[in-house]
Amino acid sequence: MSGPDRAGRPAAVPPAGPAAPGSGAPGPGVPGPAAGRGAVAGGSATAVRFRSLLDALAPIGRDPASGGYRRFGWTAADLACREWFAGEAAARGMDRTVDGNGNLWAWWGTPGPGAVVTGSHLDSVPNGGAYDGPLGVISAFCAVDELRDRDVTPARPVAVVAFADEEGARFGVACLGSRLLSGAIERDRALALTDADGTSLADAMRAAGADPRAAGADPEVLGRIGAFVELHVEQGRGLVDLGAPIGVATGIWPHGRWRYRFAGEANHAGTTRLADRRDPMLTFANTVLSARKKARLAGALATFGRVTVVPNGTNAVPSTVDGWLDARAPDEATLQELVAAIGQAATERGQRDGVEVAVSTESVTPAVAFDPTLRQRLVAALGGGAPELPTGAGHDAGILAARVPTAMLFVRNPTGVSHSPAEYAADADCVAGIHALAAVLEDLAG
Ligand code: GLV
Ligand code: MN
Ligand code: MN
Repeated sequence: MSGPDRAGRPAAVPPAGPAAPGSGAPGPGVPGPAAGRGAVAGGSATAVRFRSLLDALAPIGRDPASGGYRRFGWTAADLACREWFAGEAAARGMDRTVDGNGNLWAWWGTPGPGAVVTGSHLDSVPNGGAYDGPLGVISAFCAVDELRDRDVTPARPVAVVAFADEEGARFGVACLGSRLLSGAIERDRALALTDADGTSLADAMRAAGADPRAAGADPEVLGRIGAFVELHVEQGRGLVDLGAPIGVATGIWPHGRWRYRFAGEANHAGTTRLADRRDPMLTFANTVLSARKKARLAGALATFGRVTVVPNGTNAVPSTVDGWLDARAPDEATLQELVAAIGQAATERGQRDGVEVAVSTESVTPAVAFDPTLRQRLVAALGGGAPELPTGAGHDAGILAARVPTAMLFVRNPTGVSHSPAEYAADADCVAGIHALAAVLEDLAG
């Protein structure tokens, strides 16, 4: 591969990237992500670049009151993040491509087979943190910068990727961009998914200027990935407990999402005797408690974090309650048993309450074991001392692992909090992550 096009490559401090259209600046007294909490002032080129890129993304989709992010796929905030990505690619003279599923690619070298690909996602959960996703994309750009600073000339193409709609916060199915690309979800099913307002993925893509007819499995784009390495903030306390800033992922717990519909009878809160009620909230509440207990006994996790109540009136017994179960377990048999047991408990309770219970599966991701050879290369590239640890969190890397050699790096999260504005990683650890990623890319790209 010819040497990088260094025209316009950022010097010590990269350009901030384009302004985020429509994104409000943080409100008075509300700091940006981790501002003042370990920011590296006057540090290395990588430290300065990292902080500059994180700060450039910081206002996009941010709620000044809570400091949390709302960057749902194909919304204005997502489009602003996409603009940011395009600006960072252009600033480095990297060719930018967008595949038919809305995944963004920035190329160091000619797009083609055997590429070493790194990146993550830019969308968020409702009221999410600043690091889940963006840290992997920012670190990817910074690692490329670091290699170029060292005049490394990779033998293989290197690509930075931002996958579309990883969190599934808008259309219910996580990792839509990587699932579509790899054929893990059928195209027509994905395009027909709807958000809370009834807008389909196809319509959302169209409204954002993308052509949904181009969506679906794409063997050519997938075939370019020789290896994929996703760097991510750790979403638990594994690395804190191990006293290590960086770790290598072993695998991902099997997990999935199930939609529960509890259907009863709307009625007056002041005149309907308790014995006469068919109250779906009661069945739902019992199901939540039952899920928690069953998960604890199974050594697994079960969460109802989203609920829709109709008609949602203080003085009305609801007619329906929809609740979404997120369940995760160390192995697939345990997950299946847990989900079946929660479904049975809900049905039995519904019979007592005069409530009908219907359960539909929204997505299931099997257990993932990352490529052992690639994992070993990561551990070796990091000097041999990096700990290896599993996670219960889902990632695009988990989807791609079924099709291409895939691995993950985790960066320590001092509190373990994630999917919350409190999510955090110290700048010094993020910089260590970038150094680690650069070492891995150098090893893999030759
Ligand atoms: C994504 O972060 C997930 O684990 O759901
Ligand atoms: Mn997440
Ligand atoms: Mn993530």
